[in-house]
Amino acid sequence: MLVTFQQVHVLKDINITMNPYEVVALVGLSGSGKSTIVNLLLRLYEPTSGQILIDGSPLKDLDIKWLRERIGYVGQEPRLFRMDVKSNIAYGCTRDVTQEDIEWAAKQAYAHDFITTLPDGYNTIVDDDLLSGGQKQRIAIARGILRDPSILILDEATSALDAESEYNIKVCIYTTFNGRKRFVGGKGGRVKMGNCLVRVKTG
Ligand SMILES: Nc1ncnc2c1ncn2[C@@H]1O[C@H](COP(=O)(O)OP(=O)(O)O)[C@@H](O)[C@H]1O
Ligand SMILES: [Mg+2]
Repeated sequence: MLVTFQQVHVLKDINITMNPYEVVALVGLSGSGKSTIVNLLLRLYEPTSGQILIDGSPLKDLDIKWLRERIGYVGQEPRLFRMDVKSNIAYGCTRDVTQEDIEWAAKQAYAHDFITTLPDGYNTIVDDDLLSGGQKQRIAIARGILRDPSILILDEATSALDAESEYNIKVCIYTTFNGRKRFVGGKGGRVKMGNCLVRVKTG
């Protein structure tokens, strides 16, 4: 696959196979093209040449709505809304979820403990200064987990967390979700989990 922006080749000779039931870690320096690969999977970009197949079908032939319903994405600066914590976690989830489901997802994302210390727990309204960057990321990861997508993408989604929380979340995601297609993007040196490690080289 080749990806070119303004005549500059950003990704060249990329050939990655991700198997179902696999956690894939993408590592590489800043600017090496990790997020570009993620954006290609989300069809925010199209490859200049080459193609992406999901279960053998070219990505461009799949219905984009169908595709995006099956891919969960958590980025570095997740968007939370001015509504309570539980609604923020359930946001985007198309099936009916119970409080128990929400708490389960929050536990996987290491968010449950701090949520229970908030003034109204899961009913606390998310205000501008209420949460730290790392807490926001954990809520966004809980949202991604609860949606139960076929492919979950974390692109630097744990960058604001301390090393221990980051490690614990990754262990949880690994043990809970190693059984479906998974895809994890991360920063060089910080990704410690994965059945498969892909190093994206610059130049
Ligand atoms: N839309 C775009 N237009 C032009 N250049 C881009 C665009 N998106 C990414 N790039 C360039 O592609 C390269 C890879 O970026 P990126 O995928 O964000 O790297 P990473 O996520 O590994 O830090 C960088 O040189 C970046 O400047
Ligand atoms: Mg990136």
